Amino acid sequence: MVRVNDLKELGKSGVKVPSIGFGTWGIGGGLTPDYSNDNYFINVIRKAVELGMWHIDTAEMYGDGHTEELVGEAIKVFDREEIFITTKVKGENLSRERLLKAVKGSLERLRVKYIDLYLVHWPNPRVPLKETMKTLEELVDRGLIRFIGVSNFDVKLIEEARTYLSKEDIVNVQNRYSLLHRGDEKNVIPYCQREGITYTAYTPLEKGKLAKDKFLAKIGEKYDKTAAQVALNWIIYQKNLITIPKASNLKHLEENAGAMGWRLDEEDFKKISNKFK
Ligand SMILES: NC(=O)c1ccc[n+]([C@@H]2O[C@H](COP(=O)([O-])OP(=O)(O)OC[C@H]3O[C@@H](n4cnc5c(N)ncnc54)[C@H](OP(=O)(O)O)[C@@H]3O)[C@@H](O)[C@H]2O)c1
Repeated sequence: MVRVNDLKELGKSGVKVPSIGFGTWGIGGGLTPDYSNDNYFINVIRKAVELGMWHIDTAEMYGDGHTEELVGEAIKVFDREEIFITTKVKGENLSRERLLKAVKGSLERLRVKYIDLYLVHWPNPRVPLKETMKTLEELVDRGLIRFIGVSNFDVKLIEEARTYLSKEDIVNVQNRYSLLHRGDEKNVIPYCQREGITYTAYTPLEKGKLAKDKFLAKIGEKYDKTAAQVALNWIIYQKNLITIPKASNLKHLEENAGAMGWRLDEEDFKKISNKFK
């Protein structure tokens, strides 16, 4: 397995994860399971790990649970400690009772004893945030999850969530961020950088659109890198930022792994930032 030299600390936990992990939305279905390509996807996930993208991002919602099953099947050939698994609890499962059931379901489908990072997938104003955060802390205490994070949260909600944690802290915020989607530069990203929280950018390639960008391709020539690799490197260039592109095509997968292990120079980083403003 490639042990890439491009790791970032998760929050202030002392644990490091690859700057580029592997997203799994669409692997094994969308909102419902699709069993037709299981063997192919199991291989894709294994290949992602072998290429150094051993942070796998999934969710109980993906494929209505089937994506977690495929991740579980794929990773059984590796030592558990070699893989970092992020999964997410649905917004509708945030009460204590439902959360306890949800984590059990994810652990069973993933066939692991613990989840590395457990995220609240979406906020749900109908469930008191305090109840959710206290339950997540209980799950850490019980050894079922190692770290707590949130997704699709703004600064106000992140701050509120943190007030309900006594022994733990939020180590990760996962929100949408790419060259074409930069709203979080205003508040959430500076907040995470200030507070030492890792920020995971989702949909970093805008579903593949950025891979076709001519400006990025031109910049990439200097580094012998493609447009997609430049778009991903532009994200991980930034302090506390990691990302999780999804690829089911093996060529895309290798390309995305190749966005790690090098760095845009400052001038090019700025040029790209300004061009897409
Ligand atoms: N927390 C949340 O609410 C949330 C929301 C959305 C996504 N996410 C997570 O973030 C992950 C990534 O986001 P995403 O899947 O929405 O979008 P994305 O990673 O920006 O784009 C994935 C698409 O880009 C294509 N692609 C990947 N690498 C490529 C390359 N090198 N060149 C050309 N095309 C390439 C893929 O095609 P192929 O599959 O054909 O290779 C796929 O169609 C998800 O899978 C999921 O794990 C989380």
